[in-house]
Amino acid sequence: MALPEIDLMVYPDQCDAYGHLNQAAFLVLFERARWDMFVAGPGLDVFERAGVWPAVRRASVDYLAQVFPGDMLRFQQTLTHLGRTSFTLRQSARRVRDDALVATAEFVFVCLGDGGKPAPVPAVITGLLEEMPEGEAVRRVTVNGVGLAVDTAGEGAAILFVHGYPLDRTVWRHQVEHLEGWRRIAPDLRGMGHSDAPDLGYSMTTYADDLAALLDSLGVDEVVLCGLSMGGYVAFEFLRRYPDRVRAIVLMDTRAENDSPEGRRTRDAAAQAARESGARAVADAMLPKLFAKETAELAGEPWRQVERMILATPVPGIIGALAAMRDRADSTALLESMDDLPALIMVGEHDRITPPASAHRMAAALAGSRLEIIKDAGHLLPVEQPAATTALLADFLNRLPPIGD
Ligand code: MLT
Repeated sequence: MALPEIDLMVYPDQCDAYGHLNQAAFLVLFERARWDMFVAGPGLDVFERAGVWPAVRRASVDYLAQVFPGDMLRFQQTLTHLGRTSFTLRQSARRVRDDALVATAEFVFVCLGDGGKPAPVPAVITGLLEEMPEGEAVRRVTVNGVGLAVDTAGEGAAILFVHGYPLDRTVWRHQVEHLEGWRRIAPDLRGMGHSDAPDLGYSMTTYADDLAALLDSLGVDEVVLCGLSMGGYVAFEFLRRYPDRVRAIVLMDTRAENDSPEGRRTRDAAAQAARESGARAVADAMLPKLFAKETAELAGEPWRQVERMILATPVPGIIGALAAMRDRADSTALLESMDDLPALIMVGEHDRITPPASAHRMAAALAGSRLEIIKDAGHLLPVEQPAATTALLADFLNRLPPIGD
């Protein structure tokens, strides 16, 4: 949800010997932005009036760029989770003059009542959620002890969209909005987007089990499973564990092969970089490889959209996903065993991460599958070629045998 934006100026006395904003002073600015938000909204004493006090239980900050005296910072705050006695705010700070994302932070609060005991979140906070414009509410479902954000739209047979690394469900925005006649379900995997990011508990198995539990709680038995890149790796694991729940499969910009020894070392190096320098290190390494030259040059917005997604990914989610990808099984034999499964394989002609050669190998393994190579696209088909991706999906889905055949 969008809470009021707050602008705060950086003063020289908040800066350290290097001349840039000191990290502890930055934390204080995040704090001030939160309080100013309440001043602009329900009032600074809102918690006191409700008889509780919000105590910070966990704070994490990703510092992404240097900030200097005189910089004006714009703070945005998003309420990402609302529990019975706790809530989570995700904050971001952008430099106003160039709109650069300079830091993100996440704060988990527990409301304390009489005697310092956890107490229900006051109605005014739940009220803030209810004031959200229709359609913007992030639906959350708790599965296996982890809150997952999920977008759903439409009625009919279900299609489950699984995003790649380190992205979120909004890569499927066009498909979720426009794929009429289907019940579209697009969750954020644990550790990414607006889902919870536990410190531990990441593997292809847990991702697949989360999705199965999500479908249970949405009352969905069977889906067309559509995975983008790492989402494809999760789809393979889902297929291995829950074959009866998959009616057809769509594999986009992904590959059945697992990581080579060198690839595994690269995952560990990326995890180390994320540990040391946060999501910025991952964004810098990945962004130049994700897009086809054409889409990167022509369209600044998809690039920025994906950059924002990467920078907003919590570090535990990044590290967890890297380990899960490093340790995943090879799925070639699995695909070879899926004789009757209707399958669509799609890849951008300029995909440098999972190139067309990998798509050809999947098509050879999956007898009867349909392979589509998409022009002017790299590794992110639904973002780079949203309308063409939706049109191909619709065509594939409309040709599927009716349920029960
Ligand atoms: C993804 O886009 O999900 C990942 O880049 C896939 C990978 O690194 O293997």
